Amino acid sequence: MKFGVLTGGGDCPGLNPAIRAVVLRAHQKGHTTVGYLDGWKGVRDGLSRPLTPAEVRPLIGRGGTILGSSRTNPFAHEADARKVVDRLASDHIDALVAIGGDDTLSAARELARRGGRVVGVPKTMDNDVAGTDWTFGFHSAVAVAVDAVERLRDTAESHHRAVVLEVMGRHAGWVALATGLASGADATLVPEEPYDEGWLLDRVRSAAKARGFALVVASEGIDLGARRGSAGAKDEFGHELLREREVGAELARRIQEATGIESRSAQIGHIQRGGPPELFDRVLATRLGAGAVDLVLAGRFGEVAVLHGSVVTGIPLSEAVGTTKVVTPEWLDLLHTFDA
Ligand code: F6P
Repeated sequence: MKFGVLTGGGDCPGLNPAIRAVVLRAHQKGHTTVGYLDGWKGVRDGLSRPLTPAEVRPLIGRGGTILGSSRTNPFAHEADARKVVDRLASDHIDALVAIGGDDTLSAARELARRGGRVVGVPKTMDNDVAGTDWTFGFHSAVAVAVDAVERLRDTAESHHRAVVLEVMGRHAGWVALATGLASGADATLVPEEPYDEGWLLDRVRSAAKARGFALVVASEGIDLGARRGSAGAKDEFGHELLREREVGAELARRIQEATGIESRSAQIGHIQRGGPPELFDRVLATRLGAGAVDLVLAGRFGEVAVLHGSVVTGIPLSEAVGTTKVVTPEWLDLLHTFDA
């Protein structure tokens, strides 16, 4: 068989190990793989190249994606959709592995609906894909954010300040939640809870009173009511570019104004998405990449390889796309354990 593989959407640590696993699992079973460049754009425009075992073998610890990525939606226009279907046929692709988040996997589902032989691999630093316990990229991104909080703590302590770290994660609060829990932040703000300024100011005041500084972690997706920055800009899938709203800077301004405590903010942004994948992401990406090849070999097209507990399995693409997996009440309850 001839496999195709692509990486779409925002990059994250683990994409290269996943590509590596697809190529090497296919190779082990006697098959070859070509890589499409820049996500669905490469399929639409016919940009691809062969991937050899020798090329991918060293990729286990490399961040980013050697194939490039884009947020191209190939099914936004019918003419593009036809190009995608025709290109896979003219390239003699027997099975396509689409590695991506909700947008990329939604396009894969659409391709499957049109009879395409495609399987998915979920990835995203946001950890918001439904149907899988974890996505790779998340643990690595949180590790970077926790490191950032620990660095900010030094300055907050030295200058007796309140410091807000704004993290990415879109409309799910997983990144902020895990960063706040793992760094011992005084307040963690996630989109799943309505913004409560009184609670936030209490948390900051009591932390400042107890030890002279305060640390706040805020998800870019929280709603502060008022808007700042060049809010409203959207990507090709219609998602607002949330970091443009600068909620961290706005929070620091409000904290300083209300409490008189000198406040600063930092927006970690894309620093979270780069660098080598952490151990968990290396292993998960490897398992899901190999798992996707196994789905193909079992004839389970239209499915996506996912993690359930400690087991890799396949579920229909339609169960993984279209809904955002958000932080559950149990996690929020755990988070608020540390408010007391
Ligand atoms: O979905 C991953 C993510 O990093 C989000 O957390 C963030 O809102 C968005 O991508 C940023 O997108 P871009 O890289 O297009 O600025």
